[in-house]
Amino acid sequence: MKPVVSINGQRLMQRLDEFAAIGGGDDLGVNRQALTKLDRQSRSILARIALRRDFEVFQDEIANLFVRRRGKNNTRAPFMIGSHLDTQPTGGRFDGALGTLAALEVLETLEDAGVETECPLEMVAWTNEEGSRFSPGSMGSQAFVKGVIPPEILAAQDGEGEPMARALADTLTALPEAQRRPLGGPLQGYLELHIEQGPILENEGIPIGVVTAVQGTRWLQVKVTGEAGHAGTTLAGSRRDPMRAATTGLAELYAAIMPADEEARLTVGRFSLEPGSINAVPAVALFSIDIRHPDPDRLDRIEATIGATLRQAAEANGCTVDIACILDMPSTMFAESLLTCIEQAAAENGVKHRRIVSRAFHDALFISRIAPAAMIFVPCRNGVSHNAAEFVEPEFCILGADMLLHATLRAVAELEDRPEIVTTATAEMAVSNA
Ligand code: GLV
Ligand code: MN
Ligand code: MN
Repeated sequence: MKPVVSINGQRLMQRLDEFAAIGGGDDLGVNRQALTKLDRQSRSILARIALRRDFEVFQDEIANLFVRRRGKNNTRAPFMIGSHLDTQPTGGRFDGALGTLAALEVLETLEDAGVETECPLEMVAWTNEEGSRFSPGSMGSQAFVKGVIPPEILAAQDGEGEPMARALADTLTALPEAQRRPLGGPLQGYLELHIEQGPILENEGIPIGVVTAVQGTRWLQVKVTGEAGHAGTTLAGSRRDPMRAATTGLAELYAAIMPADEEARLTVGRFSLEPGSINAVPAVALFSIDIRHPDPDRLDRIEATIGATLRQAAEANGCTVDIACILDMPSTMFAESLLTCIEQAAAENGVKHRRIVSRAFHDALFISRIAPAAMIFVPCRNGVSHNAAEFVEPEFCILGADMLLHATLRAVAELEDRPEIVTTATAEMAVSNA
């Protein structure tokens, strides 16, 4: 099958600049955290562009934002493409925005070229992928897959004590032009373009990664409790110092986990002490641990080692420790049928590509539980992301978006020969007509 259309690279790069200015800093980074005023601003600009094109705009109960271009057969479930618009506090301009704006670009390109697809095509911007303001990450895609918003998600608070439920309500009302629709599928499939966030493609000089799987991630919330005391007068032997317990335990874990296994990752990204007084032994140390591994058994063993090590360090310092797992994303394999669509799209355009495993988590991981899903990666400079220095060559942004377009066209073309996956509305109509 010969490609009939190509995306408008100049328009895509202008859009990336336009959205990078929303929350953009002098360092070229972006701080546009989930469900903030800036996030709302970016959603409303996106909706405005979509409505100008006569696409339909929807949001669901968790403010996942959808832009729909109708297909030949609008009773069929949509094929979905997209990513997220929120960023880390020290975010870059491509993580999430590239996949979302490339998906919009695919819809616009098809509209400009008058190319019809068998089923509707939807762009999605998932709510709160990053999880840095409200934990856990990928809230929007998780709720979409479950069909309800889990109560612990609604109960989440940000660092300033703002409840997620209020930020969500404000975000929903800030976009009255979007039609409301229930959470959930069905979907024909899902494709997401993203930056690699690692060094492999760049090191090998390969512009397109065909993502076969996502490694597993767990987030642990650790609380070490000791006893507050005077910094000057409390003798060494009477201290129950949770900071000492945490740091000695963590030093042991840093030495044991990653040096022994190059696939393993262990990160402490958040740490606080209570009461946080300069001249008091703290009473409590609170910190997060992010662990990752492609092998679920190995991830279990790492979690067990963390528990044992921290318990021992706490006991040695007269403290206690509580560890709660607040996020568990098992490793996931993507759909072979969509991997083939990406590979064929790359091959037919003479683009070098290779299969690759994602070391970061993505919304596609959750969507793969209810529909065939896959991802396309492009290289980013030095593998850097979650950092203002994140950079992707324009030629890779444009090529990635073009591969998204051609892989999507292949995937939806195959639907003509496939049994129907119908939308809920269609299924309800069938029942009421019966
Ligand atoms: C997603 O941003 C991740 O932390 O992998
Ligand atoms: Mn991302
Ligand atoms: Mn990210």
